[in-house]
Amino acid sequence: MAQIINHSFDTIPKSYLFSEVARRVAAFRAAHPEKRLIPMGIGDVTRPLRRPVIEALKKAAEEQTHAESFHGYGPEQGYDFLREAVLGHYAGFGVHLEKEDVFISDGAKSDLGNLPDLFSGDCVVLLPDPVYPVYRDSNLMAGRRVTYLAATRANSFAPLPDEALHADLVYLCSPANPTGAAYSKEQLKVWVDWALANDAVILYDAAYECFIQNDLPHSIYEVEGAKECAIEVCSLSKTAGFTGMRCGYTVVPHGLVREGQNLHDLWLRRQCTKMNGVAYPIQRAAEAVFTPEGMAACREDIAAYLRAAAIVADALDELGIWYCGGKNSPYIWMECPRGLDSWQFFDALLENAGIIGTPGSGFGENGEGYFRLSAFSGEENARAAMERLRAWLQS
Ligand code: MLT
Repeated sequence: MAQIINHSFDTIPKSYLFSEVARRVAAFRAAHPEKRLIPMGIGDVTRPLRRPVIEALKKAAEEQTHAESFHGYGPEQGYDFLREAVLGHYAGFGVHLEKEDVFISDGAKSDLGNLPDLFSGDCVVLLPDPVYPVYRDSNLMAGRRVTYLAATRANSFAPLPDEALHADLVYLCSPANPTGAAYSKEQLKVWVDWALANDAVILYDAAYECFIQNDLPHSIYEVEGAKECAIEVCSLSKTAGFTGMRCGYTVVPHGLVREGQNLHDLWLRRQCTKMNGVAYPIQRAAEAVFTPEGMAACREDIAAYLRAAAIVADALDELGIWYCGGKNSPYIWMECPRGLDSWQFFDALLENAGIIGTPGSGFGENGEGYFRLSAFSGEENARAAMERLRAWLQS
């Protein structure tokens, strides 16, 4: 009898990493309702939306109540006002894009999971390990072959390709989730040159670019040749606190052609078929992020999250625990103390300090023995959490 179910689901963990964390936390809460837990697990923002964004949202919502200003289905790639604002943001890094190359989306996660629709089931997907599990699970679900490139302490969690490496599709994230490691321009050039030489395509996740505080590249398009080999995905979730609003943007340059097919045209065809865009009020709110007032407010929030990361980093320094990240990233990637494995440390941290984090092994085999703490919980929580960690580990 023909199989009707996609059995590739058998090749991925039964639950999505953050659902599994939430399930275990719910069980712990049920058993210990008196404990106040500090959430430093999923990278969900806690600072509220800023005034310019809310004013734009309210204005757009009001427009929807009048026949003359009502908006139904929007343009397939997003409204021009937002695509032009995105172009302006890129111009700030010295990257010049065509408006046609920008697609407005409901966030990075869906596009990163859906972009493989453009590629055949036979193509080989390369992922750094550890990695954001969406890249892995969405390709395994589709039955693709996934290979891994070890991201370890030895390569500062920023692996580079060598000549022997072969793959068709590569996911890179910089600054990286979960390790916070970020590629320099020279390192990204190595990836771009490798992709061009191998006819590979890079899916570049720039969701954390807003955390960069120095001269590291914000976009892969800062590297010459990237428009011929890379698609870039970004989101306002972390830039502007949009995790509950859902808006992002993906750049598929016109120059990106493989086997005679223009990937931009394929993505447009795919999106027109399977997506109806992002709500008009949300796109207006997103436009407000890119105004000088909007950006200034977002920078204040990012600075506050980075101060929270510094509180965690200082405590780990004091406790003599190895870590990286937290400088150009909201994530601290730490070694599990006391020789615990990632899930053992997750349980012990919850039990002894009431802190929720994310086990490194959930991001891949090389994450075993490591743990991710998110600074999105804010300064006050970071301080309280580190006091609890000190009290536990020094007891
Ligand atoms: C994370 O915690 O890794 C992220 O918040 C997940 C996401 O952005 O989907």
